[in-house]
Amino acid sequence: MANIKALLFDLDGVIVSTEKNHFIAWRETARTLGISFSEEDNEALKGVNRVDSLKQILKLGNKTVSSEAFESLLVFKNNIYLDSISTLSEANLLPGVDALLRKAQSMGVKIGLGSSSKNAPMILERLGIKSFFDVIIDGNGVTHPKPHPEVFLNGAKALGFHPSECLVFEDALSGVTAAKEGGFLSIGVGNPLLQHVADVYLNNLTEFRLEEYA
Ligand code: BG6
Ligand code: MG
Repeated sequence: MANIKALLFDLDGVIVSTEKNHFIAWRETARTLGISFSEEDNEALKGVNRVDSLKQILKLGNKTVSSEAFESLLVFKNNIYLDSISTLSEANLLPGVDALLRKAQSMGVKIGLGSSSKNAPMILERLGIKSFFDVIIDGNGVTHPKPHPEVFLNGAKALGFHPSECLVFEDALSGVTAAKEGGFLSIGVGNPLLQHVADVYLNNLTEFRLEEYA
C-alpha cells in the first residue's frame, strides 16, 4: 500500500482526547433542557458539528426551541467546553502524535487537518503543533459536515493530491464514513467500535508505521 503523499487527521479523539470534554459540555447543556444524555448517546455525536449535535440532542429529548434559544444553547455549550480545556498544552497530545508528525515532515509527506471543530486552529496552537500542518480544514470552512466527505476532499484538493494518495485518521463513525465516501483509505484510531468499520484499526498512533504506506 505505497504511494501515500499526505496524512489527513481528525482532531478531537485522534490528536487530543477532548471527546470527554465535548460530552460533559453537551450533557450539561442537555440537562438545562431536561434531557438526559448518556455516553452512549454521545457516541453518535462524535465528529458531528456543533449545530447538528444540538439538533440531535433536541431530537433525542423530543424538544423544540426558538432560534434565539438554539443560538444561546450553542454558546452555553461552547463556553463550558472552552472552560474545560483552558489548560490544554503539549502534554495533552495523544500517544504517537508528535512522533508521527515529525516523521511525516522528515519524509516529505504532507499533513492536513480535517475537523468538524470551529475551535480547531486555537486547539492546534495550544498543543504547539499548528506549524506542522500544511492545510487546516475545520468546522468554519465546510458546507456539508461529516459524514459528508467535503472536509477531507477539500484537504486533499488543497494539498494537490487525489484521495487515493491520502490517509485519513479518525476516531468517529461519522469521520470514517466521510473518509470512505470520499475514496480515502480510513485508519480508525482508539475507538473499538471502528474495528470492523475502518480499513485499518489502531489502538493509538504509536502503532502506525508510515514506512509501510509512503
Ligand atoms: C468534532 C467533535 O471534532 O467537533 C465533536 O468530535 C464536536 O464532538 C465537533 O461537537 C464540533 O466542535 P466545536 O469545537 O466546533 O464545538
Ligand atoms: Mg474525532
